[in-house]
Amino acid sequence: MKKALVLKDITKRFPLVLANDHISLDLEWGEVLALVGENGAGKSTLMKIVYGLQPPDEGEMWVDGRPYRPRSPLDAIAAGIGMVHQHFMLVEPFTVLENLVLGLEPGSPLYLDLEAARKRAQRLMEELGFQVPLDERIENLPVGLQQRVEILKALYREAKILILDEPTAVLTPQEAEELFRFLRAYVAQGNAAIFISHKLKEVLAVSDRVTVIRDGKVVGTVRTPETSLEALARMMVGREVVLRVQKGPARPGEVVLELENFAAPPRLKGVSFQVRAGEIVGIAGVEGNGQTELVEALTGLRRHQGVARYLGKPLPTLARAVRELGISHVPEDRHARGLVLDFSVRENAILGDQHRPPFRGFLGFLDGDAMEAHAQALVEGFDVRPRSTELSARRFSGGNQQKIVVGRELLRKPRLLIAAQPTRGVDVGAIEFIHQRLVEARDQGMGVLLVSADLSEVLNLADRILVMYEGRIVGELSPEEATEERLGLLMAGIPA
Ligand SMILES: Nc1ncnc2c1ncn2[C@@H]1O[C@H](COP(=O)(O)OP(=O)(O)O)[C@@H](O)[C@H]1O
Ligand SMILES: [Mg+2]
Repeated sequence: MKKALVLKDITKRFPLVLANDHISLDLEWGEVLALVGENGAGKSTLMKIVYGLQPPDEGEMWVDGRPYRPRSPLDAIAAGIGMVHQHFMLVEPFTVLENLVLGLEPGSPLYLDLEAARKRAQRLMEELGFQVPLDERIENLPVGLQQRVEILKALYREAKILILDEPTAVLTPQEAEELFRFLRAYVAQGNAAIFISHKLKEVLAVSDRVTVIRDGKVVGTVRTPETSLEALARMMVGREVVLRVQKGPARPGEVVLELENFAAPPRLKGVSFQVRAGEIVGIAGVEGNGQTELVEALTGLRRHQGVARYLGKPLPTLARAVRELGISHVPEDRHARGLVLDFSVRENAILGDQHRPPFRGFLGFLDGDAMEAHAQALVEGFDVRPRSTELSARRFSGGNQQKIVVGRELLRKPRLLIAAQPTRGVDVGAIEFIHQRLVEARDQGMGVLLVSADLSEVLNLADRILVMYEGRIVGELSPEEATEERLGLLMAGIPA
């Protein structure tokens, strides 16, 4: 039987990396193929080639047995391929319905007047078993619904092969479940799908087969029923990984941070909670529910209202003052706030503390020896590879950049660490390492406020879990009570 899609020896070079190195894989009609690999493995690059967004340097493709060489997404769509991108590509001020017909040429068999389009869209939604409000503007829809619009748009264009690039990053567990049900029904009708993820549990739940890629190469393809979480993790990273952090119970001490009706526009409406020394308080929630505002307001990067006390005293409002009191911050976006990419590790290692001893020495000049000793302690203590203090931060992989940030923040021995998405975009090996260091710091008496959109991270690390929804805390659970289901309901604003 003809295969839905065949790739043979697809190769793509970028100036600094070989993103795809002779990748071959095939997709059968009627199956969900998961494509997994760590960040930077080359998954998105490969799928952009399939969707005609960029040409391969080498290699060949076939769709349903016919040679396929797309020059643009129009060729991909004509061949029956649809793609839901990691970052949505909808036109925000336009309505759902307008987005559906947008980009279709007048004269194309699908280009109809809006009323005919509405009928067609409604029929499709009935078949799919999901609804989106056709006359709502995209910008007014929550991300979960925007993703449905992307899917609907692909199916409106009669996609028989659907590619989804990390689709669950923006979904609650229940929304992800719905997406999986849809995918199973979609392939049961004889279509085919490629599902990209680095969340292995999801991969096991939805796929028929899994192709693992690492450093731009295919490591192997396995049938889902014949593999396991551990086996996939090993294939992905190339060695054994600990999927659960080793940690004992917390021994909370004095209150380090106390918030009462703490609010910050636009999204943080008012939260009250405490963080004690020696505990990790995890904030779970779908992104965009006020978490960014919370972290920025606490670290002096944004104005706040309400009460915030640090060790019993009012929290200062200036970032530098907050830092000087012994509060560390691992920012959500390490490129924008965590590192200066063109600075060396040695310079990045003291960022934010450059005006203080021991780095600021005689006559106010930076003390080169103190800086070097500190940077050495950082690269060694935090396993930064390569072990260079000279290279610019830009030259390190995402995981190693994040180790530099986390290491710098922990080496200051803070009383309170505010960690936002501390392992986003980081490979599994580095995640394991960062998690262990956070638990160690907790055990030495540091209070940690962990804000993460990654549920497994919160479940793994937190001693108490607070769920944020629309700018408020809607529930608190202990790790024992916190099943993904209960958390997911709270994350969707449904009280337990
Ligand atoms: N347009 C580009 N220019 C240069 N390098 C790129 C470009 N796109 C991706 N890369 C690099 O190619 C590698 C693979 O990236 P990507 O395909 O996005 O990985 P994944 O989706 O698996 O996380 C990474 O090292 C990335 O930095
Ligand atoms: Mg990607």
